[in-house]
Amino acid sequence: MRVTVLVSGGGSNLQALIDAQSSGELGTAEITAVIASKPGVYALERAAKYGIPAHTVCRKDFAHSAEWEAALLAAINETQPELIVLAGYLSILGDGVVRRYAGRIINIHPALIPSFCGKGMYGLRPHIAALERGVKVTGATVHYVNEIPDGGEIIAQKAVAVLPEDTPETLQQRVMEEAEWLILPQAVRQFAINN
Ligand code: GAR
Repeated sequence: MRVTVLVSGGGSNLQALIDAQSSGELGTAEITAVIASKPGVYALERAAKYGIPAHTVCRKDFAHSAEWEAALLAAINETQPELIVLAGYLSILGDGVVRRYAGRIINIHPALIPSFCGKGMYGLRPHIAALERGVKVTGATVHYVNEIPDGGEIIAQKAVAVLPEDTPETLQQRVMEEAEWLILPQAVRQFAINN
């Protein structure tokens, strides 16, 4: 099961997938390519360290979003994925990619959808919003990607306690450790079993 992982930043979720693959927890899934949304991100160093072929398709290199979408679709096609994993990928995929790989793209979101999700809710922002709202429980969600940001079918969720002393950063770290890094590899393994 060829898996292409899309990343934008530190790549700790990519690392969780790599570690799961190393320990046999990904089943027949294999990370065969990484595509980054910008150059210089640490996720690319992680890919290089493990010899995973990596490409960068940066929105800023294109005058129009249609050109960027076409280039991203071409880059993805070249990697011949059977599953695409958005692991901290912070751009919204164009309709062309979503249609071409319908039912074969999954995303990890750092909140319990339908809370703190949708356009603009990425990275630290869901955690800032959770603290502002005063929720006592948050978590992470793995879901299929469709044309609605964070709107696709939910695959897995895991709850994480919010502590009184939490900052957005401490909450983000705990949600990663206690939820994201567990449910994303599990979802990839399950997808490989089902497909
Ligand atoms: C993770 O918390 C991920 O859930 C979030 O960005 C972070 C990336 O960390 N993704 C989104 O907000 C997508 N809407 P990482 O680069 O260390 O995996």
